[in-house]
Amino acid sequence: MRKFASFRNFTIGFTFNFWFFQILPAQSIVRGPYLQCPNPHGITIMWRTDVATDSKVWFGTSPVNLSYEIEIAGMRTDHAVTLNGLQPGTTYYYAVGTNQTQLTTPSTQYRFKTAPLPGTQNPIRIWAIGDFGKGNADQINVKNAYMQYPGSSQTDVWLWLGDNVYDEGKDQEYQDKVFGLEGFRDVFSWLPFWAVPGNHDYIEVWRVSSFLGIPYSNIPYTNHQGPYYDIIHAPTNGEAGGVPSGTEAFYAFEYGNVHFIMLNSEIFDFTLTYQNFNQMIDWLKQDLAQNQATFTIVVVHQAPYSKGSHDSDSPIELIMRAVRERILPVLEQYDVDVVLCGHSHVYERTFLMHGHYGPSSTFNFATMVKNPTNGRLAWGQPYKKDDRPETPDGTVYIVCGNSGSKTTEPELNYPAMVFSDGGPQGVGSLVIDVYRNRMDIKYLRASGQIWDDFTILKKNLKVPDNPRYILLCEPTPVTLDAHYAGGSDQVSVQWSHTSSTSLETVVYPTENAVYTATLTDALTGQTLQVEFNVVLANQWNPPIFLLQDTLWTLPGFTYQWFKNGQPILGATEAWFFPSEDGSYSVQITQNGCTAESLPFQYNISLKPNQEEDLRVFPNPTTGLLHIHCPHTCSGESFRILNALGQVIHSGRLQAPHINIPLFGLANGLYFLQSGSRNIRFQVQH
Ligand SMILES: [Fe+2]
Repeated sequence: MRKFASFRNFTIGFTFNFWFFQILPAQSIVRGPYLQCPNPHGITIMWRTDVATDSKVWFGTSPVNLSYEIEIAGMRTDHAVTLNGLQPGTTYYYAVGTNQTQLTTPSTQYRFKTAPLPGTQNPIRIWAIGDFGKGNADQINVKNAYMQYPGSSQTDVWLWLGDNVYDEGKDQEYQDKVFGLEGFRDVFSWLPFWAVPGNHDYIEVWRVSSFLGIPYSNIPYTNHQGPYYDIIHAPTNGEAGGVPSGTEAFYAFEYGNVHFIMLNSEIFDFTLTYQNFNQMIDWLKQDLAQNQATFTIVVVHQAPYSKGSHDSDSPIELIMRAVRERILPVLEQYDVDVVLCGHSHVYERTFLMHGHYGPSSTFNFATMVKNPTNGRLAWGQPYKKDDRPETPDGTVYIVCGNSGSKTTEPELNYPAMVFSDGGPQGVGSLVIDVYRNRMDIKYLRASGQIWDDFTILKKNLKVPDNPRYILLCEPTPVTLDAHYAGGSDQVSVQWSHTSSTSLETVVYPTENAVYTATLTDALTGQTLQVEFNVVLANQWNPPIFLLQDTLWTLPGFTYQWFKNGQPILGATEAWFFPSEDGSYSVQITQNGCTAESLPFQYNISLKPNQEEDLRVFPNPTTGLLHIHCPHTCSGESFRILNALGQVIHSGRLQAPHINIPLFGLANGLYFLQSGSRNIRFQVQH
């Protein structure tokens, strides 16, 4: 507008005036701007204008210097501009408009923060609301209570637990009760939301969705359409981490050290084919299998357990039952930490539990509750879990379908619940703080009071390799470094040889020596010992095992095998299988120093017999397991079980050997089974 203002020419002025009065005044934002799919390198900014315009976004790291621009030609009322190439964990400011004019005035209100890189340990704030979109005072009060709660201006992740609008998921309802709602709408310009749909969002989805012209049926989820899908911009291609789902119907994303899985209970098919459900579960298994995050939060609208406005025992609650029977076993197989649900217009929170897939009458406190306390850190009772999926430590299920909805006299007597809230005053939202290996979950009532809280801690302290061998050519000072991964910020170290509490210590051994560092995480009580073997090359013969429980796959070591004193060409791995009799030895080299094993006499008669043909090595393994089998067993099926007898891997044997990566496994005892053979081995990271 300003650049036309200096024109004096009457004709141009007239044209300008006509343009100004006929079009420009009508050009304004009627929805948003709002933010979708923040990831470490990008975000999508969406808004709606009352008349069709082109789309433009200005952005930069200061509200007074929006030095970058992106423009999309073409006229539209619903705008979506995706920014890429941004810095991780960085706050940007932005304005939206047309190539003619900015329709928002730059300020701190128009900002967004890119996600940190996966694995980053910075504090993360999550806010979750469910069944909120009523457009009523409760919805606004819940939002205001959260905004007045400390730390809300730093919210990283805003979760919508479904039934995001009532009654039918129509666009006008989203407009009136969500994006346009006075007292609620002011957060959209700076706080991205991540949504799952509820049954109310899906009424309009089912109405407008079709496949081959057929609506209302068990259509492929890729054909699901409607206002909910027009509004959200969810990652379909793993843009924000996790396995690509290929659909906005369900998806995963990563934020720092938290992995989020956003499931869709509404793709349930009432003709009971479970077709869509099963496709989602197949993707879910893949996503969980690759997940390395410290904490995993799953969001699904329909709650598996509830005695609120919905009763999960009721025969009509087929979806709640399907979530419980079909999804929960998968989540628990991977030891998911927290499942957030809505649907029932109450707050309910279970114990840390495992294995409850039936109606409430089958709930067994003695066998299913992993921790009988309320999990409150202030009472010295935080829930503690390890970070190994194969040792199930339990999951907490939370219903928070009362962020705008409520029910008059809920039963709230589900036997697995530690805490429940509901009724006329029972409205609120969830506040979740994650820092390193600690997750605090609070239920914040609309009154501003914390009504329930608990904490989950992860005993996830790790050292890269243990024991460690340091090979010296001659006595010389050497630095031992007990660096570790995971844990809280309260990890201390105690050395076996000094009172020093620093992670690094210098030792000067004149003969072979063993030093131990004991690491303790004061928050979780977890302790870990790291063993350092400092050995002098000329005083040490590394042990050698051939076709036996083996061996030394140690970082920084190189290997050369010898037969009768002669190097064997290409025999430079940590293991070697002789095919003929002889005297075998191995040279191990590190830091330019070489130590040599004593010779090992191999006699062909020592060759394993038929019953013992299958071998695993190294044992213990640090992650890569080699299964050796001669031709006699090639093609046979095998499986690997943990100490609890759970199958964690299966496949077919191949001669002469196959490699199985087992890096994600907990330390401990495992079994390789094939036919009648049952071979024990250990994983030792
Ligand atoms: Fe619902």
